[in-house]
Amino acid sequence: MNLLDIVNRIPIPEPYSEGEKIPWDDPEFSARMLKYHLSQDHDAASRRFSIIDKHVKFMDELAGGPTRMLDLGCGPGFYTSRFTSLGYWCRGLDFSPASLKYARKQALEARQDIDYALGDIREAEYGDGYGLVTLVYGEFNVFKRVEILNILKKAHASLDDGGLFIAEPHSFEAIKSFGKAPSSWYAAEDELFSDKPHMVLTEHFWFQEQGVSVNRYIVIDAETCEAKIHADALVAYTNEEYEGLFREVGFSDVVFYPSLTGDKVDYNDQLMVIAARK
Ligand SMILES: C[S@@+](CC[C@H](N)C(=O)[O-])C[C@H]1O[C@@H](n2cnc3c(N)ncnc32)[C@H](O)[C@@H]1O
Repeated sequence: MNLLDIVNRIPIPEPYSEGEKIPWDDPEFSARMLKYHLSQDHDAASRRFSIIDKHVKFMDELAGGPTRMLDLGCGPGFYTSRFTSLGYWCRGLDFSPASLKYARKQALEARQDIDYALGDIREAEYGDGYGLVTLVYGEFNVFKRVEILNILKKAHASLDDGGLFIAEPHSFEAIKSFGKAPSSWYAAEDELFSDKPHMVLTEHFWFQEQGVSVNRYIVIDAETCEAKIHADALVAYTNEEYEGLFREVGFSDVVFYPSLTGDKVDYNDQLMVIAARK
């Protein structure tokens, strides 16, 4: 793709027509993303450790103490390592090679018995006998409705009776506001989308009827002017729709919380928490 292709791009891309997600599972991209997970200067990719400590405390209270736990989209293992220290037995599933490599190394160094599996949570087997399954930091909404229903179905089947699924999705209004955000751009030497000097142009689109917002990232190499498009989409649900998804797969008790810290007002009010019991 060159600069003329950018000028002639499709003005409003249909959801998923230019991509479903940013390439978390690409080895080089995941290595660059790992730096964002690890940074304690911001909350991109993973929240800062002081916040994750509060999340783990709140989830431990909801779960009622140590049990077998599965963390879907575990990233570098910041949650699983903390739960393991509390006495939980943890399995983490993620398709980012760099994050899993880091998580495994950390577990080895800390002599923690954590089962990390590299795989796509849409396709992987979850196992069973869990008392707690988690899917945090907004990842719920990156899946199409049919995919998240299947993920919820598998999570439900993997839980023991009385087990808890904790999800941290975005509010409907948050996703709508992402889609309505103005276009922007930045230039960088070495950043998330490339380790060479480049520019990133971002555009956002909101599809009211489908309840979907799309982010488009056009990454332009500064030396060659070659461009590449990445896109992802987030599906918005009202609270009634969220509850409907959980009930559809068999969860009986569905409770909403304002944040993963348990506080009424979180540092990030775009996310909410749903705790559903089997
Ligand atoms: C925003 S990060 C959060 C990571 C971790 N839960 C945390 O809060 O520190 C989202 C994670 O989900 C993973 N992920 C996204 N889609 C996935 C999929 N289809 N299968 C497995 N992992 C996925 C990414 O690789 C990434 O590690």
